[in-house]
Amino acid sequence: MAVALLVAAGSGERLGADRPKAFVALGGKSMLQWSLEAIDAAGIDDVVIAMPREMLVYSSEGATVVAGGAVRSESVRNALEACDGDPVVVHDAARPLAPAALFQRVLDELRGSGVDGVVAAAPVTDTVKRAQDGDVVETLDRSALWAVQTPQAFRREALERALDVPDDVLAAATDDAWLVERAGGRVRVVPGPPENLKVTTPRDLRVAEELLRAD
Ligand code: CTP
Ligand code: MG
Repeated sequence: MAVALLVAAGSGERLGADRPKAFVALGGKSMLQWSLEAIDAAGIDDVVIAMPREMLVYSSEGATVVAGGAVRSESVRNALEACDGDPVVVHDAARPLAPAALFQRVLDELRGSGVDGVVAAAPVTDTVKRAQDGDVVETLDRSALWAVQTPQAFRREALERALDVPDDVLAAATDDAWLVERAGGRVRVVPGPPENLKVTTPRDLRVAEELLRAD
């Protein structure tokens, strides 16, 4: 049975709120709560939340809570060790607007395709150039580029193997799929909606509020 790992252990330094980011309110509930409700609506009953150590006193109904790690992928590893579900769908609490259907989409594609991982992603709409010291080195073929989001679904064994790496590799990972790729795993992308934005700055939070109002 599928398990969801919700990583919520970051401090939210760039948001600069008075509490860790996942506990900041958006449209009347915490960012964490939005993701929990989407996961529940997707029919995933087993949830592990990686939380900041100081927030562990606040238990979350029906979910297992663990302390997060020093870096994001360490939080994922801590959460994975606290459950035994398979497949595993990893989601950032910093993406509160991920729809329930997107959790289903990544899991369905994983089951149907037989690959090791499936990530939600949005086609890149900007032209992307690679530059060194301000000099453009290359213009990339935009039609092949995807901006990666969460949720990301994995076969448990592939994710376990991918996370079994030295601390410096874990620290360099900006998503879990990269760790699966570098371990030789096959990963696919499925389209995620642009409103599944990552809340990083106060401006992102205002955009998210606006998107909710428009619904
Ligand atoms: N995260 C985590 N454990 C960490 C770092 C991050 O669980 N040690 C989680 C965050 O809670 C967030 C997601 O990973 O849901 C993406 O991280 P990011 O957006 O960078 O959040 P923060 O690290 O909290 O923000 P900042 O980098 O601005 O401090
Ligand atoms: Mg961070």
